[in-house]
Amino acid sequence: MASEPVSHLAASPAAAGPLAGIRVGIVGAGAMGEAMLAGMLRQHLLSPDQVVCSHPRPARAAHLRQTYGVTVVTANAQAAGDADLVLIALKPQVLPHVVPELAPVLRAEQLVVSIVAGASTRALGRGLRHPAIVRAMPNTPAQIGQGVTVWYATPVVTEAGKACTRGMLAALGRAVEVEDEGQVAMATAVSGTGPTYIFLFIEALIDAAVHVGFARHVARDLVLDTMQGSAAFALQSGRHVAELRDMVTSPGGTSAEALAALERGGLRTVVGDAMWAAYRRTLQLEEALERGTPAANRSGAGGAGGDAPHPGSRGQATADR
Ligand SMILES: NC(=O)c1ccc[n+]([C@@H]2O[C@H](COP(=O)([O-])OP(=O)(O)OC[C@H]3O[C@@H](n4cnc5c(N)ncnc54)[C@H](OP(=O)(O)O)[C@@H]3O)[C@@H](O)[C@H]2O)c1
Repeated sequence: MASEPVSHLAASPAAAGPLAGIRVGIVGAGAMGEAMLAGMLRQHLLSPDQVVCSHPRPARAAHLRQTYGVTVVTANAQAAGDADLVLIALKPQVLPHVVPELAPVLRAEQLVVSIVAGASTRALGRGLRHPAIVRAMPNTPAQIGQGVTVWYATPVVTEAGKACTRGMLAALGRAVEVEDEGQVAMATAVSGTGPTYIFLFIEALIDAAVHVGFARHVARDLVLDTMQGSAAFALQSGRHVAELRDMVTSPGGTSAEALAALERGGLRTVVGDAMWAAYRRTLQLEEALERGTPAANRSGAGGAGGDAPHPGSRGQATADR
């Protein structure tokens, strides 16, 4: 978990940028809420005295206080009521229990930013009785500032509110604003759940390298460096990945042999099936949260499931850093 000693953060200079001077309330200060808090403090977008977190567990509250020097209260309504920007980072199954606590204290001029998987702005807006909402979907590399977040703002969110959102999400890595909220649900299956696919593939490669004969620590280094280098190469070259793959696939060579085995095993089909399963589950969660039923219980961080139409192409995306 990304954390810095409080002594360092307390000594940080006054915050600058779009979040300077605003009060931030964090409801659901778990892994991702903490990653966002740590990122904003680390980048001096916020100072600790601007933040109030709420947490029901005393040990967790003490950890947040000691590590970041922020105020931590028990009541979610207190963290939300005193803030200009309210970040909701709860698990989907907890959200329906907390929404009634927040609704009475929210004021029209506040901005609510939610990263709750499957929570649509329609469900949040109705439950919170609040129209200015940003729905964002980050991913786990956000914990080291190298994530990608896809976000959507309801039409009433002001330019200043969007600037605050950009500032907050910049602490997590790259952020991509979309004009169609449906793309946040799609991104839940692609980038939100994406690290899960990648981690499983990394694990399979490491196990295979051990099977071939490498010590596990050597196999891990070789595989992780290969993943990182390949992604960086693809990004920097700007070429189609099939072209990069073709460059290393000689006739009758080792790559050709390996690719034939991967295709026989149905890699593309199984990857496609996995992503659709995640997308369908996202839509199921959305439906459950809109109905106010507790079907969100099977959810994980970015997980999804249910029957869905093909999303097709929707709206425009704008990347910020
Ligand atoms: N982790 C990711 O990479 C990721 C990526 C994209 C989106 N998300 C979304 O982000 C949200 C949070 O995920 P997470 O991984 O950070 O989960 P998490 O670590 O479980 O964080 C949620 C926090 O909320 C606390 N909480 C529970 N009940 C509460 C209540 N009534 N009032 C206030 N706080 C309460 C939890 O406390 P306890 O520890 O005591 O349960 C926990 O600290 C989820 O909706 C997830 O879908 C996460």
